[in-house]
Amino acid sequence: MFEIVQETVQYIQDKLNFSPEYGVILGSGLGGFTEDIEVEYTLPYNEIPNFPVSTVQGHKGALVFGKINGKNVVAMQGRFHFYEGYDMKEVTFPVRVMKYLGVKKLVVSNASGGVNPNYKVGDIVIIYDHINFMPEHPLRGKNDERFGPRFVNMSEPYSKNLIDKAKKLAQNLNIEVKDGIYLGLQGPTFETLSEYRMVKILGADCVGMSTVPEVIVARHMEMECFGVSVITDMGDENNINTVSHDEVLEAAKKAEPQVRLLIKQLIATD
Ligand code: HPA
Repeated sequence: MFEIVQETVQYIQDKLNFSPEYGVILGSGLGGFTEDIEVEYTLPYNEIPNFPVSTVQGHKGALVFGKINGKNVVAMQGRFHFYEGYDMKEVTFPVRVMKYLGVKKLVVSNASGGVNPNYKVGDIVIIYDHINFMPEHPLRGKNDERFGPRFVNMSEPYSKNLIDKAKKLAQNLNIEVKDGIYLGLQGPTFETLSEYRMVKILGADCVGMSTVPEVIVARHMEMECFGVSVITDMGDENNINTVSHDEVLEAAKKAEPQVRLLIKQLIATD
């Protein structure tokens, strides 16, 4: 796999002559972030050798390269989910590629269901930890030491440094943020009420179907991570909800301007 990653990196470098320092993975309904980038190049996934191709409605598939306040950024417009049928190596392949393009700091965003009763729909949550409940581990199998060690320390998956900066920024920008623990499930079903209860009992604040594998692989390669989640629905064990993909996209869209601003300023002032 190391060689395959290098082949993809080589292809991109030959084409672009651009070295991003920041990587951003845009979650459901947050794709508009690319408008905040002074775009220099856009590479659709289907033109990139060895890249999987995105399938879900609402997720565009392209790598977008450009600048935010002079900082070199690559954004993934659309990500790969395990529930789409990709294996974890495919889900996390773009993170490997980002690393060897030069990315040191990875910002991941997503939409999630809130189980913390202090949350409400539309809340912006800074993820300070996660619980991996995905059925396959992205680092399972023979370890390639060129990427990172066999046994990865996960005691600070999300950079305290970036979390502190983001919280201060949010305050200055008058953006209300909460923080919380994200639990990753495979989906594609939303949770039963009992599963939402389980998520809560397990100690998480919100639940979604992405992010965890990407952050694991990023930490394998010692990338610094920052995660932000938009609460698009509430999973309350006592109340039937109406969550659907449309509802998720709609709620995420409403929060998008503030999430965009936060990520943009985090990168701009870093
Ligand atoms: N559960 C899982 N994933 C999600 C949810 C949810 O309630 N909302 C948005 N993504």
